[in-house]
Amino acid sequence: MKKIIAFNGSPRPKGNTTYMLKHFLDGAISKQAKINKINAYEVNVNSCMGCLRCNLIKKCAKAIDDWENISSKILDSDIIVFSSPIYFHHLTSPLKAILDRFRSFMKVRITETGLKHTAWQKWNKDFVLLLGMGSSNDEDAKPVIELFEYLIKMLGENNNLHIVKRTRLAVSNQINMDINDLEILYSKLGLPIRLAKNDALENSKLLKNCFELGKNLSTF
Ligand SMILES: Cc1cc2nc3c(=O)[nH]c(=O)nc-3n(C[C@H](O)[C@H](O)[C@H](O)COP(=O)(O)O)c2cc1C
Repeated sequence: MKKIIAFNGSPRPKGNTTYMLKHFLDGAISKQAKINKINAYEVNVNSCMGCLRCNLIKKCAKAIDDWENISSKILDSDIIVFSSPIYFHHLTSPLKAILDRFRSFMKVRITETGLKHTAWQKWNKDFVLLLGMGSSNDEDAKPVIELFEYLIKMLGENNNLHIVKRTRLAVSNQINMDINDLEILYSKLGLPIRLAKNDALENSKLLKNCFELGKNLSTF
């Protein structure tokens, strides 16, 4: 049985990325995965205070919040999911706070040419990014993707990154809209109505892809 920790980074209860995550987790559940779902806006994870004590004591020295509990669940999981809207080319801020606390999973040394990261544990995990953005251009997700490509390498050689991203998502629940509702929305947003038909198809295909990814990664 695969273990999953999934962070929902949308502040909107009917956020598009919330639905992407739901479909991913439905796929995982169909393969009996064990799931810890965490709403990043509800959990109490403080910003990293930069004390750097983790470099010596191998854990966060300031974990007077939910981090201790969450960090042990992360370490115990096979699959780590971050689902997030893109906010100014990045993850939403509660997810960034969680990511900064990943600093406590590794030793960092300054070298002449850059930083050298050594993870305290051996990591062999699947990382999943489920990203939604308003732009019609998925370049807006590039900084997040580059960050995760870097992060998974810092944590070891055997981690994998899986990405599902969708553009042109503005209002809550849009990803579930049929062609008619999407045409009405696009006319309000000043977008060409001709785009609605293909976008409705792409949106429903994407949710199926999320389900299949959850299912496939949860299959031994
Ligand atoms: C504060 C803020 C910043 C945003 N920045 C970007 C951005 O840089 N690029 C982009 O494509 N969309 C941006 N968006 C749009 C959201 O990424 C998009 O609507 C997303 O689908 C929302 O996800 P959700 O429905 O799961 O909440 C931004 C939205 C907000 C509220």
